[in-house]
Amino acid sequence: MTNVTIIGAQWGDEGKGKVVDWLASRADIVVRFQGGHNAGHTLVVGDQTYKLSLLPSGLVRGKMGVIGNGVVVDPFALLAEIGRVSAQGLKVSPETLRIADNAPLILPVHAALDAAREAARGARKIGTTGRGIGPAYEDKVARRAIRICDLAEPETLDAKLDELLLHHNTLLRGLGAPEFAKADLMAQLLDLAPKLLPYAEPVWERLNEAKASGAKILFEGAQAVMLDVDHGTYPFVTSSNTVAGNAAAGSGLGPDAVGRVLGIAKAYCTRVGSGPFPTELFDEIGQQLGERGHEFGTVTGRKRRCGWFDAAMVRQAVKVGGIQGLALTKLDVLDGQTELKLCVGYDINGQHYKHLPAGVAAQAAAKPIYEVLEGWSSSTRGARSWAQLPAAAIKYVKRIEELVEAPVTLLSTSPERDDTILMQDPFAG
Ligand code: GDP
Ligand code: IMO
Ligand code: MG
Repeated sequence: MTNVTIIGAQWGDEGKGKVVDWLASRADIVVRFQGGHNAGHTLVVGDQTYKLSLLPSGLVRGKMGVIGNGVVVDPFALLAEIGRVSAQGLKVSPETLRIADNAPLILPVHAALDAAREAARGARKIGTTGRGIGPAYEDKVARRAIRICDLAEPETLDAKLDELLLHHNTLLRGLGAPEFAKADLMAQLLDLAPKLLPYAEPVWERLNEAKASGAKILFEGAQAVMLDVDHGTYPFVTSSNTVAGNAAAGSGLGPDAVGRVLGIAKAYCTRVGSGPFPTELFDEIGQQLGERGHEFGTVTGRKRRCGWFDAAMVRQAVKVGGIQGLALTKLDVLDGQTELKLCVGYDINGQHYKHLPAGVAAQAAAKPIYEVLEGWSSSTRGARSWAQLPAAAIKYVKRIEELVEAPVTLLSTSPERDDTILMQDPFAG
């Protein structure tokens, strides 16, 4: 038995939440290791729909949830989410949720700076979720972040707030946005302290002990490889490393804890926000995929851009992300298409590329090179075995395996938890 790490293999919203929830039945602990409440993971269990942003999806199965040091935690968003899911009947308490005491906080100044910067970028905006993710990670790297443990030390907070506000108010002033008063922030933090501190602990200790005792840990990635701050379509990315290697650093374990890496990809492709998307469809088919797949963002409600499956990009995500097996979701959304296209490379100014090059202009100019496959007319929705799939759908999945150079080990055929076909149990190694 091994641990399992789940990461997105495209630009997010691949169905990580559904797959984590499904696999959580076999896990003991579920750990978030990066990102923040920019993530939106939707889980459908019977007549209940859970929308999780910061909370590890395993909580829905009653499994211990851990928020690692690599996550940026907005305390207001966290408490609001705990309130929301508790009202749906989930039990979230310091017995079921532990948060790394060294995790940095997202404060209202971060969201304000995020918004002011996006406004200043105008047409060149990144299309962030506006949650303050980028500014919070910048503060962490710049060594001025306020961390959860600081809430227990008012004198530390006092000094840190001076440094933080010197930086942020200078920027906000320059951008013509309202500044923040230290007294207000201090009062908010002191009010939050007793609500948050009961959840805080050195989670690395708990996780190392769990690992030593043979417990099965499931790492739940947010965002996706093509939004990774190093490997994604920079600068149209998020501000954390989303690749599997970060599961270790983002939770306080060694690299051997990562275990089996499962990449999640939709059977087509979507993207929210700005940035290159070579296989994007602007026609009726794109519209159909969006409608059939209900492609609206969980966090911001924005319409997701839709396009064909980009096998060249997923192959790249497999390599840089450390993906050993692929879970292909939303196969049912392709039902009824007469033909399907798979992108196998790019034409960039007359030159052939097998992968997306790093340059911004080159990425924007990339034209997909397609292979065309036959579609299927029967329904795959709700299928729970290979035998229920039409031959053309099996052929499509098999061709994806070849092109991305990774086996498809799990298929998902509807939002519902159990409409899942497992070919290989990742916990089995
Ligand atoms: P995540 O961010 O990767 O967890 O993905 P999201 O939850 O943001 O978006 C995926 C959406 O697709 C959610 O609304 C899921 O309920 C839904 N979904 C997941 N798997 C399937 C599937 O196999 N078929 C269909 N039709 N919907 C799915
Ligand atoms: P899940 O976990 C899809 C995108 C934003 C924007 C860029 C930067 O649900 O897959 P940020 O607010 O992180 O600074 O925004 O990243 N983005 C996501 N897109 N799914 C997500 O999370 C995302 N999290 C961030 O739309 O383009
Ligand atoms: Mg999502």
